[in-house]
Amino acid sequence: MPEGYKVRDTSLASEGRASIEWAERHMPVLMELRRRFSGEKPLEGLRVAACLHVTKETAVLAEALRDWGAEVYLAPSNPLSTQDEVAAALATSGIHVYAWRGMSGSEYQWALETVASSRPHIVIDDGADLHVLLHGDLRDAASQVVGGTEETTTGVIRLRALEREGRLLYPVYAVNDALTKFMFDNRYGTGQSTVDGIMRAANILLAGKTVVVAGYGWVGRGIALRFRGMGARVIVTEVDPIRALEAVMDGFTVASMDEAARVGDVFVTATGNRNVVDERHLKAMKDGAILANAGHFNVEINVEALEGMSVSKRRVRRYLDEYVMPDGRRLYLAAEGRLVNLVAAEGHPSEVMDMSFSNQALAVLRLAREGKGMERKVHRIPREQDEMVARLKLETMGIKIDELTEEQKRYLQSWK
Ligand code: NAD
Ligand code: ADE
Repeated sequence: MPEGYKVRDTSLASEGRASIEWAERHMPVLMELRRRFSGEKPLEGLRVAACLHVTKETAVLAEALRDWGAEVYLAPSNPLSTQDEVAAALATSGIHVYAWRGMSGSEYQWALETVASSRPHIVIDDGADLHVLLHGDLRDAASQVVGGTEETTTGVIRLRALEREGRLLYPVYAVNDALTKFMFDNRYGTGQSTVDGIMRAANILLAGKTVVVAGYGWVGRGIALRFRGMGARVIVTEVDPIRALEAVMDGFTVASMDEAARVGDVFVTATGNRNVVDERHLKAMKDGAILANAGHFNVEINVEALEGMSVSKRRVRRYLDEYVMPDGRRLYLAAEGRLVNLVAAEGHPSEVMDMSFSNQALAVLRLAREGKGMERKVHRIPREQDEMVARLKLETMGIKIDELTEEQKRYLQSWK
């Protein structure tokens, strides 16, 4: 069993603790659930392995699971997203965390292998790297897993592919697909934190800029909305005709990336797809264009092509690299093409992670109770869980809603 923890510097723990307490204040639903179940210890004797961005919000989830009796093992979901002070606070409060900002590819792999080798009963993931490891090289460590959860769209896509091939080893809850997750986290969380990340990386004026958003899914919609709110002219690119039409009727300009590449000042990818900004687009871009990615993996902008085309590269700001093209144009890549909102900023604000991680926590409780009897497939979060999270969130916001009367219920069920 892996022992202890590995973080950058445990002397950062008190800074991390203050930050976690700030998140707790803004995550009232998760804190209420944590309080409700702490007495009965529903996860006693269970090992939970998690691959999540190590942020103050993840800390609130990890400590809730610990309070419910679990032994928690935590690896990061990205080599650049760890908040070192938070990792330090977790390490000194009983969470087995193996994460530091700027870890190499092999250190990231080591962290995943370390948490997988805890022989977990429950696996929480954001992007499915841990699930995939437990279905491949570390398959033996999966024999006692009763179930897993998945936080993001790209991870759910990977798990559905495993299910289609009949290779899924345990049931998985698609937490991403809960209404109280994707409608809020993907849209408003990523919308706000992506603007935040680009501002911290580049600190440019957005008013009057042309911002190109690739993908008009839940993430792209939020990003387009928030950039418009900052006074930018937003162009959306899509491959899905219905979503493209939706973007048009939401008032955005829709164009192909070939057209948009020539006019954009800032490009943000949010598709979950690869090479959406490709070599030919990079060749067409204006001097000074800024490139950022909000999708899960760093494959959406063809960084390899950018590296290959450029005659020189230098870091001009903490999260901004300048690439000089043979014709003298300079292109700027934020956060090395990784999730800009988590690398250059702090990820989604706590209020929205409150709902995502309440869904994670409730899914873990369900798996602990029922996982053994569940089919090995990707499961939807039950509607009643979504409604419970939404009701609790409204309650904590002091918002009351109406209830159907008996007469209204009968009316809505009648064909007359
Ligand atoms: P989604 O499926 O709702 O939307 C993706 C959209 O991209 C779709 O409309 C699709 O048609 C479009 N698309 C695909 N290929 C394209 C291409 N070549 N050009 C233009 N459009 C294309 O998914 P989503 O929930 O919006 O998630 C998008 C990505 O963001 C995923 O990788 C997801 O895991 C990630 N994500 C990141 C964060 C974050 O914190 N940065 C948060 C949530 C989700
Ligand atoms: N994904 C996006 N924002 C996040 C956050 N604040 N914490 C953990 N995972 C996240």
